Amino acid sequence: MGMLIINNYNFCAMLALKPGAIEVGGVALDNHLLLAAGILGTTGASLARVLSSGAGGVVTKSIGPAPFPGHPGPCVAVLEDGLLNAMGLPNPSADFAGELDGLAGRPVVVSVFGGSPEEFAEVAAWFADRAAGFELNLSCPHAEGYGAAIGTDPALVEACTRAVASLGLPTWVKLTPNVTDITGCGRAAEKGGASAIVAINTVKAMRISTGLRRPVLGNRFGGLSGPAIFPVAVRCVYELYEACRIPIVGCGGIASADNVLEMMMAGASAVEIGSAVIRGVGVFEAIAADLYADDGVDAATIVGCAHA
Ligand code: FUM
Repeated sequence: MGMLIINNYNFCAMLALKPGAIEVGGVALDNHLLLAAGILGTTGASLARVLSSGAGGVVTKSIGPAPFPGHPGPCVAVLEDGLLNAMGLPNPSADFAGELDGLAGRPVVVSVFGGSPEEFAEVAAWFADRAAGFELNLSCPHAEGYGAAIGTDPALVEACTRAVASLGLPTWVKLTPNVTDITGCGRAAEKGGASAIVAINTVKAMRISTGLRRPVLGNRFGGLSGPAIFPVAVRCVYELYEACRIPIVGCGGIASADNVLEMMMAGASAVEIGSAVIRGVGVFEAIAADLYADDGVDAATIVGCAHA
């Protein structure tokens, strides 16, 4: 039997989208490209810089119930096709509120985490007068008692979502791909009142230094991001689109305008960009320059179009 290997499947001229402001999951955005949580999201100045560099919205570093310095280093390793990190959710907790003082009315989504529905609600309430919405970190793959430790249990996903959604602000839920079936957690978020799903957080991974005969990261295990996980993210968004009705924000290895279009065709209404920011904040303007044209199509015509 013959074997067909496709090594170049993007043989048509690239689409362009109509530029302009949008609304996704209750949050007004300047365009479809958001800064993902975890990169340049710890100070008001860096968030403002990313917004003035072409991002349509920003998500802060995840903030939790108590200040924490994070895992012992090394915390980040640069790999051939991505980044491996185990920061350990370092954050200043409630003191972060002051960083948002100059960002009133801007598209700033505050990422929050906790170890229980009550902690999620407590942390989110600190920022209720400053956030355009919340993103629940139910997906960090290497934080004991937090993130994926609770985000792999649909009942807890639903309860944490409900606790934060009851504050009345848009509530996005960031899911982990480190489960057998991501749609169970997506449906749980939807049932709990989420206004959007963010898919995906990093893939649990590790590397070992053969010279040192030891794990590269201080925490041994970390989360893989960047182009290496893009196909995993596309698959998760595709599955979630078929299982859920609320909008999906695609995340995971997006590094080009064509990646953005592919995510949208899988079912994403907007995207978050994280690891590609290692090239500099100019990545937002560079992707936007390729993605948008005044005679472009309405994004709604391509969201989910890869589904039969
Ligand atoms: O370690 C970290 O702070 C990463 C968090 C995450 O992946 O959500």
